[in-house]
Amino acid sequence: MTINFPRPARIRQITQESRLVRTFVLDTAMPGAEPGQFVMLWLPGVDEKPMSVAVPAPLTLTVTRIGPFSTALHQAREGTQVGVRGPYGHGFTLEPDRPALLVAGGCGVPPIYFLACRAVERGVSVTVALGAQRAGDMVYDDRFRDLGVELLLATDDGSLGHQGYVTDLAAQRARQFPQPPTIYACGPEPMLAALLRLCQQQGWAGQFSVERYIKCGFGICGQCALDGLLVCQDGPVLTVEQLARAQDFGRFSRSATGRRMPIR
Ligand SMILES: Cc1cc2nc3c(=O)[nH]c(=O)nc-3n(C[C@H](O)[C@H](O)[C@H](O)COP(=O)(O)OP(=O)(O)OC[C@H]3O[C@@H](n4cnc5c(N)ncnc54)[C@H](O)[C@@H]3O)c2cc1C
Ligand code: FES
Repeated sequence: MTINFPRPARIRQITQESRLVRTFVLDTAMPGAEPGQFVMLWLPGVDEKPMSVAVPAPLTLTVTRIGPFSTALHQAREGTQVGVRGPYGHGFTLEPDRPALLVAGGCGVPPIYFLACRAVERGVSVTVALGAQRAGDMVYDDRFRDLGVELLLATDDGSLGHQGYVTDLAAQRARQFPQPPTIYACGPEPMLAALLRLCQQQGWAGQFSVERYIKCGFGICGQCALDGLLVCQDGPVLTVEQLARAQDFGRFSRSATGRRMPIR
């Protein structure tokens, strides 16, 4: 059941993943959540922001410190009261008959981890490619190793794994698969745009979790519009076919006030 008003919860456990990333385990659960869905996390007196479900029970969120909301959350202690509503949005749909290539960069790792867990449960063959700027920014690699999936790592400076873009590493591996893969991805939009081009060139299927500015989270305000789609409802996971028709994808997004801004 989707809850459209915040339900109180407390932060039960906090783990420092890297310099800028912390994981928050709450004393509540989102039992019906699917990989790729998100919740709206409310910090009373601060703001409310969308966060992907990393683990539904107990509800686990992994947050990168980037601006006012995430900084306030990083300052919270175990026992702090928050509010959660959701789960919202359209998540990933696992295609059981094709190899699954999961690609994550930046703060895109949490939904990809949830999807990897689901794929392993269902016996789908999984390869995960993770990208980060440098070794110290890589998160969740141990958790993926514990799942027993094939794990490929890329860093911009070569301090861990392949030196270069995770998209190049993923493309190289995908060409070796005996069958065409489905690419499932979450991360910065330039990374997703590169994977979209790859899927279009190779004729591969792809599902990408896209970020747009989210306010209501359930299709009322229109803030998250992307060329006729509502990212909070039709997405955040959109297919290659949907994104190929979205003129702004990879080029423009919108600020909190609706201003159209180029994506860098
Ligand atoms: C579906 C979805 C799932 C997300 N999951 C995660 C996650 O699991 N972990 C994580 O660390 N981050 C996640 N984010 C991004 C996260 O919501 C924003 O980075 C966060 O709200 C930043 O807030 P801030 O005040 O710290 O930074 P700000 O300085 O306010 O913003 C920094 C950046 O975050 C974007 N942002 C700010 N507010 C929003 C908003 N309401 N909706 C969308 N983008 C916003 C801004 O456009 C800007 O690019 C997700 C975003 C979406 C759309
Ligand atoms: S965030 Fe309000 S319609 Fe999508």
